[in-house]
Amino acid sequence: MKISVIGAGNVGATCADVLAQKDAASELVLLDIKDGLAEGKALDLWQSAPINRFNTRPLGVTSDYEATKNSDVVVITSGLPRKPGMSRDDLITTNAGIVKTVTENIIKYSPNTTIIVVSNPLDVMTYQAFLSANLPKNRVMGMAGVLDTGRYRAFLAQELNVSPKDIQAILMGGHGDTMVPLPRYTTVSGIPVTELMDKEKLDTIIERTKFGGGELVKLMGTSAWYAPGSAAARMAEAVARDQKRLLPCCVKLEGEYGLKDVFVGVPIVLGGGGVEQIIELDLTDDEMQLLHKSSDAVKEMMDILDKK
Ligand code: LAC
Repeated sequence: MKISVIGAGNVGATCADVLAQKDAASELVLLDIKDGLAEGKALDLWQSAPINRFNTRPLGVTSDYEATKNSDVVVITSGLPRKPGMSRDDLITTNAGIVKTVTENIIKYSPNTTIIVVSNPLDVMTYQAFLSANLPKNRVMGMAGVLDTGRYRAFLAQELNVSPKDIQAILMGGHGDTMVPLPRYTTVSGIPVTELMDKEKLDTIIERTKFGGGELVKLMGTSAWYAPGSAAARMAEAVARDQKRLLPCCVKLEGEYGLKDVFVGVPIVLGGGGVEQIIELDLTDDEMQLLHKSSDAVKEMMDILDKK
């Protein structure tokens, strides 16, 4: 199995690090447009192999897409990150051009790959990659739900003073302020979270989750990388190892949840076939309304892209 990570910035490098530490692929390529950056990070990562005890020897290249030839999975992290005061949507024009070029280059050398998009605004950039890749819809998806549930679960673990490993949760909608965490599907080792926490506390955590990316941008002056990079790596690993994991991911909907021709986060089964199944939950009217509202917000951004 071969995985390529495009963009050797903070998110791409973290993704490569997690993939290497898991020995998730026999070949791992890291590509960046900045001279020497990917080569340097790949070399540094390789020098951590004896310490962290893995076998993967990453290859770093500058804009040499031929090195990504025959990748089974490609993770696209390229694009500008947010600065304080910016919304993810402010990045649309610049990053759409970048994602388009990157996708066309990938497809030239790996026409049957599976693409995982991480660039922001996430849902719209997944749409852009889909348009440029000409791959079946099950082969192009976006990373956001794994990150957003990661934040949600971390906050819950902190509040309940339990291990984050024991928190299970699902979340739907776009990767933005309209995302829809679902308390009804949140458990602590099978115990509904609503039995362990009062509504007010839970609502506070849900609100913090929705703005979790912005909280970090404010603190650091740029966007996050440990959780986003790790989330993308888990998705790439699920495809490369055919793990059939049930995860929230951004995919193209064609009628599921009453939504059509929109890229939005829903629970899926992720394996060697890419998006192998879209899970349709029996949502309440309120939950469905929130999902549709979130989808409308994504659709608006997709329309902006269409008009460009
Ligand atoms: C975040 C960015 C990566 O949510 O979208 O941190």
